[in-house]
Amino acid sequence: MNISVIGTGYVGLVTGACFAKLGHKVICVDVIKEKIDLINRKVSPIYEEGLEEVIYKHVGKSLSATLDLKKAILSTDMTFICVGTPSREDGSIDLNYIKKSAEQIGKILKEKSGYHLIVVKSTVVPSTTEKVKEIIEKFSGKKDLGICMNPEFLREGKAVHDFLNPDRIVIGEYDKKSGDILYELYKDFSCPILRVDLKTAEMIKYASNAFLATKISFINEIGNICKKLDIDVYKVAEGIGLDSRISPKFLNAGCGFGGSCFPKDVKALAAKAKEINYNPILLESVLKVNKDQPLRMIELLKNKIGNLENKKIGVLGLAFKPNSDDIREAPAITIIKKLIKEKSIVYAYDPKAMKNMKKIFPDISYENKAQNVIDNSEAILIVTEWQEFKNLDYKEKIVIDGRKVLEKKDINYEGICW
Ligand SMILES: NC(=O)c1ccc[n+]([C@@H]2O[C@H](COP(=O)([O-])OP(=O)(O)OC[C@H]3O[C@@H](n4cnc5c(N)ncnc54)[C@H](O)[C@@H]3O)[C@@H](O)[C@H]2O)c1
Repeated sequence: MNISVIGTGYVGLVTGACFAKLGHKVICVDVIKEKIDLINRKVSPIYEEGLEEVIYKHVGKSLSATLDLKKAILSTDMTFICVGTPSREDGSIDLNYIKKSAEQIGKILKEKSGYHLIVVKSTVVPSTTEKVKEIIEKFSGKKDLGICMNPEFLREGKAVHDFLNPDRIVIGEYDKKSGDILYELYKDFSCPILRVDLKTAEMIKYASNAFLATKISFINEIGNICKKLDIDVYKVAEGIGLDSRISPKFLNAGCGFGGSCFPKDVKALAAKAKEINYNPILLESVLKVNKDQPLRMIELLKNKIGNLENKKIGVLGLAFKPNSDDIREAPAITIIKKLIKEKSIVYAYDPKAMKNMKKIFPDISYENKAQNVIDNSEAILIVTEWQEFKNLDYKEKIVIDGRKVLEKKDINYEGICW
């Protein structure tokens, strides 16, 4: 099929590259020229395991990138909308990029003859795709349009693998004709394909992320209680995870979830609930536990070394999770902010995310090796579970471990929940 993809972020670029890998002809569109130039030079603008290889192999053949949305839409039969849907100040979803894309698509489709399918892949609150349809109809003057909502469940860091090996594919369809075309695109995937209406597809995405976030805040709260009772929460998690109704996944207690999705999506769902006069008590609590969790590391640090002013503190790990350069809503941001407030001298290291973190904190010291952070600091906070942090020489220094990276049990070692 001939596919255009709007937005070359984690979702759009992975979607485009993977469809090209699967034999389709794909044009990726973005408004950022640097991204487009990089892709056309066969370089990935983001770090994602395996993505650069796919881009390298298919750019110049079945995959290309452009700033020209019109050219992309006019030369394809199907357009995926993968633009960002950030949080507003009050936590509700900002749909401006989606609306803008819908308007642009509508204007372009006015000049295109024949049927075109638009697929919203961005995460959007229930009823949004219906509005996208109305906007496109308004600007195109057309009624015979295909509309689907196809939520994406990929994990950053494993995005290519997850896109190609999903647990399930959800097709939210405005009508059968739209759904049939999208089904055709996915029919060779071996996982279950669930066909539902637009609103249900939108809600499945939010409910999935809210559930996973709840699992994390749940085990973190259990961990905080376990710590006070001198119980190993990881043993507790093993014990409850063996219950097949619970499963062991997402039960790693630590310094909290981050990333572009869980915080944003839980906040957006809570805001949507309030908008329709429902008080989302559980979702609010999930967010509250998560907000406080990174700061528990600072509390533990203070218990060990007292006042933090002028103390040299190392932060190992900046990305919200390993194998990613993404720092959006990362616990490291909350931690560094607090350390700066307490007037500590901060040394930081991350194998992939330092470039991004420098944009937020340009004035802390970034080291080119994890070992340098340890050598320079009197206490070390482990915030992301990068594999390489397991085998460093911690030199008997104070370590507050937010991710159970180390198995240490000595007096200088403290786990956040164990
Ligand atoms: N990142 C994830 O792990 C993940 C997983 C599942 C779903 N999602 C959802 O997918 C959506 C995209 O997320 P992301 O992480 O890829 O976002 P991102 O911010 O990394 O990328 C969005 C891209 O869209 C581009 N863009 C914005 N407006 C545009 C326009 N009018 N025309 C062309 N390009 C435009 C931006 O320049 C940017 O490159 C969001 O709704 C997100 O919630 C993300």
